[in-house]
Amino acid sequence: MSLSKPFPTTAGLRALALVMTALFAPLPANAAGDAEAGAKKAYTCLGCHGVKHYVNTYPTYHVPKIAGQHEAYLISALQAYRSKQRSHQSMQANAGLLSDQDIEDIAAYFASVGGKAPADASADAGIDLAQTCAACHGGDGNSVTPTNPILAGQYKSYIKQALRAYRSGERKNAIMAGFASGLSDDDINKLAEYFSDANGAIRTAPR
Ligand code: HEC
Ligand code: HEC
Repeated sequence: MSLSKPFPTTAGLRALALVMTALFAPLPANAAGDAEAGAKKAYTCLGCHGVKHYVNTYPTYHVPKIAGQHEAYLISALQAYRSKQRSHQSMQANAGLLSDQDIEDIAAYFASVGGKAPADASADAGIDLAQTCAACHGGDGNSVTPTNPILAGQYKSYIKQALRAYRSGERKNAIMAGFASGLSDDDINKLAEYFSDANGAIRTAPR
């Protein structure tokens, strides 16, 4: 392309259009969260979520990994603790201090600091039981739907705790209540084993 040409070429215009589209593309719906602001606001969370193998006592299970979790799911989880719809005293206390903007910023931050999602996230479930879960959480627990939490690589003890809580009704969710109600303790152990062993983006938050 010669610099002396008075008008841009068709190819040049096309390239320009692409650049403009990229620059002025509408922001995704959940872009309200500012991950940079969230990094500062998340400081108090790291005392638990930034410590590998940190455990909750009574009952004893691992504090869930939240780095790399879907942003939309993190927002809904924090809103559920804040409204006390989801039980857990210290999480209710922590979430109770957060504004909507804080929740969005913190969720954007934690979602952005995960590991790398496996490139070959396969869609086929490794065990029969997990096939029921595949439609929503992915065959290997790497859910692609932002409102469905990623299970792959989550702590086994936490997955068990969550499934028991849905089964008993302590954790209220219409969808999961239906899927957990028919599970035996043995089913729960197998499912927790399977999903926690899978490779996913989710991990302990960096400090
Ligand atoms: C005292 C330890 C502690 C602190 C501090 C803490 N958390 Fe938690 N968090 C937990 C435990 C334990 C759970 C699991 C509770 C349950 O079983 O529902 C949890 C659950 C969560 C979940 C739900 C995860 C999931 O997979 O459903 C989110 C999101 C979360 N915490 C975010 C935060 C944020 C954001 C902060 C800081 C504002 C924070 N936590 C501070 C211990 C803590
Ligand atoms: C129709 C969709 C759907 C199916 C099928 C489904 N789930 Fe879920 N699951 C969800 C949604 C949505 C949530 C988030 C609910 C909430 O906010 O508490 C969830 C939450 C969970 C959680 C909690 C994760 C966390 O981070 O706290 C676990 C564990 C789980 N599901 C396991 C399973 C297993 C095991 C199966 C199969 C037996 C299954 N799910 C089937 C939609 C589904």
